[in-house]
Amino acid sequence: MSQQPPEIRGEVPGKSSQALLERLHHVECPEVSAMPGAIFWERANGSNVWDADGNRYVDLLAGFGVAAIGHAHPEATRALQEQAAVLPHALSDVHPATVRVALLESLTRRLPADLGMPILSASGSDAVESALKTALVVTGRAHVVAFEDAYHGLGLGALDATHAALFREPFAERLPGRTTFVRFGDADAVRRAVRADAAGAILVEPVQGRGGAHPAPAGFLSDLRAIADDEDALLIADEVYTGLGRTGRWLACEHDGVVPDLVTVGKALGGGFPISACAGRPGVMKGWGERGEEARHTSTHLGNPLGCAVACAVLDVLARDDLPGRAAEVGERWLANLRSALAPLPGVVDVRGRGLMLGIELDTAARAARVVEDALASGWILIQEGPDGRVLSLTPPLNVAESLLEGATARLAELLSA
Ligand SMILES: Cc1ncc(COP(=O)(O)O)c(C=O)c1O
Repeated sequence: MSQQPPEIRGEVPGKSSQALLERLHHVECPEVSAMPGAIFWERANGSNVWDADGNRYVDLLAGFGVAAIGHAHPEATRALQEQAAVLPHALSDVHPATVRVALLESLTRRLPADLGMPILSASGSDAVESALKTALVVTGRAHVVAFEDAYHGLGLGALDATHAALFREPFAERLPGRTTFVRFGDADAVRRAVRADAAGAILVEPVQGRGGAHPAPAGFLSDLRAIADDEDALLIADEVYTGLGRTGRWLACEHDGVVPDLVTVGKALGGGFPISACAGRPGVMKGWGERGEEARHTSTHLGNPLGCAVACAVLDVLARDDLPGRAAEVGERWLANLRSALAPLPGVVDVRGRGLMLGIELDTAARAARVVEDALASGWILIQEGPDGRVLSLTPPLNVAESLLEGATARLAELLSA
């Protein structure tokens, strides 16, 4: 696994990336296309990414949290290749692939004892849709309480619980409007909203990721658990970003000793292959009732064998190498180092996070944008997060070399001192 410092050979983006961007813009819908300044990834390994111009970067994001075991981990690659050679596709809810049983058993084994019976899907947003549908089927109540700055994906069901106006407004006419947003951390407001709207579920990220690396305040998740129990509602933990070791536990909820009724995971699960899952308390998952002639919630690629095979390998590596434990230990050290190096510097408002899900909040989005751009030019990949783009997001692979994190701290200190 490659754990090398950056090596930049010239201008960033280089000529090849610039030419590819030009070509891409001719053939792709502008809304989903790359931004000016994008580098084109050609290959990746471990914590490193190489672009089309041969520059080597350190990926301080693990590809939005996907490469938790590092990019192109040999065991994940082998699992994918072997599966591709024998069975790349099966018939979702009709005739499943054998490897799907192995994945569901493995995933259930890693989740807290009370959670299981997953519904597989492809994206994080899909997993949230599964959770929201399950909650409606079980409680008969469509309303959900979610949080300001929450991000749960952009499918129309999940989007209804995603807070940012930027994502919602163009599609407002298609949104059910069945979500009440409450300040993250305000348990009293949650209780009031659940009662007032007869909500069937509370949907929470244990650490708000895209909202800017905000861990839930101490005791908040336990309060949500109690409110859900008192009001006969379900607690859904969206762990698409935080789950599978990112925050130092298999699930971030475990830090608070809270077991939700439903949990979603995604991103890290497929190590790059799109696969996600929604699991729950067996009593909740069985709320769907007996399977009828036609599955009411399925898709062509549900339980895709490539995804199942690679996810088995990812879970094995996470467990064998105790990457959740490593994320806790390394993350705590890195957070302390980042705090002492960066907190005194101009424009730094806060340095926070949990495990290897950290954020540096700056005073302005312009400063954050400048740091992201200058970091990239010197070989460090990170992005802006938070509702107004002021947070530098740091979610490296869980097996990143600590020497790279020390290098990142030093580089960030230089950029923030400049
Ligand atoms: C907490 C959370 N939920 C859901 C999603 C949506 O996942 P996807 O982009 O795979 O649909 C994300 C994506 O960042 C996320 O952070």
